[in-house]
Amino acid sequence: MRRTTVGEIDADVLAYTAGQDRVLDLALVEADCLGTAAHVQMLSRVPQDPPLLSAAAAKKVVTELAKVSRDAAAGRFEITLEDQDVHLAVERRLTERLGELGRRIHVGRSRNDQVAVDLRLFARARLIEAAEAAAALAGALLALARKQIKTPMVGRTHMQPAMPSSVGLWASAWVEGLLDDLELLQAAYAQNNRCPLGSAAGYGVPLAIDRQLVSDLLGFSRPLHNVIHAGQTRGKIESVILSALGQVMLTLSRLAQDLILFSMPEFGYFALPEAFTTGSSIMPQKRNPDVLELLRAKAAKVLGHAHTVAEMVRAAPSGYNRDLQEAKAPFFEGFDLTVSSLAVMRPLVAGLKVDKPALRRGFGPEVFATDRALELVAGGMPFRDAYREVKARIGELAGGDPDAALAAKTHLGATGGLDLVALNARIREAAAWARREKRRHEACRKRLLGI
Ligand code: ARG
Repeated sequence: MRRTTVGEIDADVLAYTAGQDRVLDLALVEADCLGTAAHVQMLSRVPQDPPLLSAAAAKKVVTELAKVSRDAAAGRFEITLEDQDVHLAVERRLTERLGELGRRIHVGRSRNDQVAVDLRLFARARLIEAAEAAAALAGALLALARKQIKTPMVGRTHMQPAMPSSVGLWASAWVEGLLDDLELLQAAYAQNNRCPLGSAAGYGVPLAIDRQLVSDLLGFSRPLHNVIHAGQTRGKIESVILSALGQVMLTLSRLAQDLILFSMPEFGYFALPEAFTTGSSIMPQKRNPDVLELLRAKAAKVLGHAHTVAEMVRAAPSGYNRDLQEAKAPFFEGFDLTVSSLAVMRPLVAGLKVDKPALRRGFGPEVFATDRALELVAGGMPFRDAYREVKARIGELAGGDPDAALAAKTHLGATGGLDLVALNARIREAAAWARREKRRHEACRKRLLGI
């Protein structure tokens, strides 16, 4: 039997139920301290006689919480098995240092709303990291598009040569894709930016707590309203966020696949920067695209994690269920994999070498077949007749001029009609949003813990 803050438990059961929390929760210490700092300040203002906590007592708790947070950042904070998780570890530490005061703080809340708020505080910082990294990668791709806007590249369907295209068109397609994914990150951020604290075990408390004040102190946009709903967004919000991260990884994985393909010697369109390739232990000539292959696999993991967490929520009845503790590992890893993949892709793209002659060599006459048919249409021929005419004499088709073909497509979004200025504005807007939110988080940390 092992003695814990919340009763005696069989040793194996304790190990089984605490699971990975002892380790994973170390990432939540600062968030837990922020949540508790806001909570005790609110408690000291609850109109009640005798007070739940005096203003001076709340101040002492906050001072100690700032120390806990600093200790954790320096690797000097431990969560023991008997603590089970970060919440009871912080409470133990406060009680060790502040005595009776430490035993007064867990009023008007439960670990259920505590872990929910911790995860949201953790996620809001990491979502900003992901958004910043996505905007930076979009910037690198846009620079490539600008530089190579007139560089011809064969456009493909079914991987077969199809129509004239350009490196600028190809590169800026990924920019627009990442910007779409950034919108999903921002939508997930907005939903995450609501405060569950004070819902307690999921049914509120018979005390005049001020949930709006706690939400404001923590810098959330508003409290989650219904206390059952507040509790059971646990798991759901992780699922929403992982879905958004999964979309980012989906885009990255396809970009990685294109880069693997087009940097094969058989194509030779692009050369990966040497430092971003790896060698072979037996074949001296090898420079392999391991980074891009690993990225594909990591994308599969993030998409899998999104599915795992959705499955954990799917059959959960209303109210708190311990199942959701198991969502932490995939949730945390989803962020790690996405942020690190975005970060490795930016310099890889920035260092990409473009082989213009190789790109031009890809232009067989067949690439111009559709343009030729459309020329006949411009002369008055019905399209189906033009199509047949070109098809019937496909072997005799003369090669075209790739540059002229690119310039001829002037409509919106085509090779000669790309609005890279608008894309740049969207990237800057997203980056400015991330900076603004980050400043708000910093201000909140400073206000609450003085760090
Ligand atoms: N470590 C727990 C979790 O992640 C904290 C909440 C525990 N609540 C409970 N009722 N057992 O879910």
